[in-house]
Amino acid sequence: MNPADAVPRGHSPADVDLSVSVGALRLRNPILAASGTFGYGLEFAQLVNLEALGGFVTKGLSREPIEGAPPPRVCETPSGMLNAIGLQNVGVRAFIAEKLPVLRKIDTTVVVNVFGYDLEDYVEVIKALEGEEGPAAYELNISCPNVKKGGMQFGSDPSLASEVVAAAKSVALRRPLWVKLSPLVTDIGLIARAVVEAGADALTVANTYPAMAIDFRTGKSRLGNKTGGLSGPAIKPITLRLVWETVRAVNVPIIGLGGIETVRDVLDYVSVGATCVQVGTASFTDPRASDRLARALPRAIFEAKAFTLSEIRERFQAENG
Ligand SMILES: Cc1cc2nc3c(=O)[nH]c(=O)nc-3n(C[C@H](O)[C@H](O)[C@H](O)COP(=O)(O)O)c2cc1C
Repeated sequence: MNPADAVPRGHSPADVDLSVSVGALRLRNPILAASGTFGYGLEFAQLVNLEALGGFVTKGLSREPIEGAPPPRVCETPSGMLNAIGLQNVGVRAFIAEKLPVLRKIDTTVVVNVFGYDLEDYVEVIKALEGEEGPAAYELNISCPNVKKGGMQFGSDPSLASEVVAAAKSVALRRPLWVKLSPLVTDIGLIARAVVEAGADALTVANTYPAMAIDFRTGKSRLGNKTGGLSGPAIKPITLRLVWETVRAVNVPIIGLGGIETVRDVLDYVSVGATCVQVGTASFTDPRASDRLARALPRAIFEAKAFTLSEIRERFQAENG
């Protein structure tokens, strides 16, 4: 008899164990809603049971409030969408005063997404949050232009990325630091290793792809900002490969996101090594998408004749090394 057959296997989807650990952080399931597509969580509280999710990531917070880019800010593209929101947000102080007190009453994992245009911006946002109860982790968005270095993205240069992560880590004393990588790099392993050496506790892979959509008849861009970020199902195969490469490059948990719409998408990311996933654009077509996926996952795993996410992952590893 195969020794695995001797282990009690359970009898129904209810026996599937969905809990995951992202480093020291325990999540009830691997589905989080992604930054920028779920507001500050509260906007979705009437539609989604926030306590049934693995958690959610807030809209990116900056030192000061930002009004954002001119309209139109989003447009549909084949199998995806473009957005140029311009990182609109209420600013870290208003988040602490108005959103965090309500979020504290909800039993869910709140990851706070942080961004800045120079190193000090990142440091100041984290310092402000360090004094507060509520967040479970920080997620650093390094896909932003560094104004002091000629607008070059933090996330596309290993030494800049490493500098900003080290600075953030030196003040992020209370909580894990996740770093969200830009997909627009020639070697994601290089950036991944640099930010892990600088102190990242987990990596989120990845952000949107710089892209554009125009209307040749009017000669106009379909976005107020001219260019934007591509997301949705169109990007999934590209990001899936990036997650696979990142998993092989570093030894910290990887959070996969890009184009997830179905449980199959979730399990594809888990197979290539993601510890958990985030759901972004899918929440625009179905605001309950993350909740729906968390509920559908046990049956999908059971039907795949498995009881844990690790078993799903091991299958791919056994085939592909
Ligand atoms: C409208 C919109 C706003 C976003 N805002 C942020 C943001 O503030 N910070 C961030 O790190 N990522 C932001 N993202 C990127 C998403 O979190 C995610 O990385 C990306 O959309 C890919 O996942 P998806 O294909 O599931 O949407 C935004 C995406 C969209 C569509």
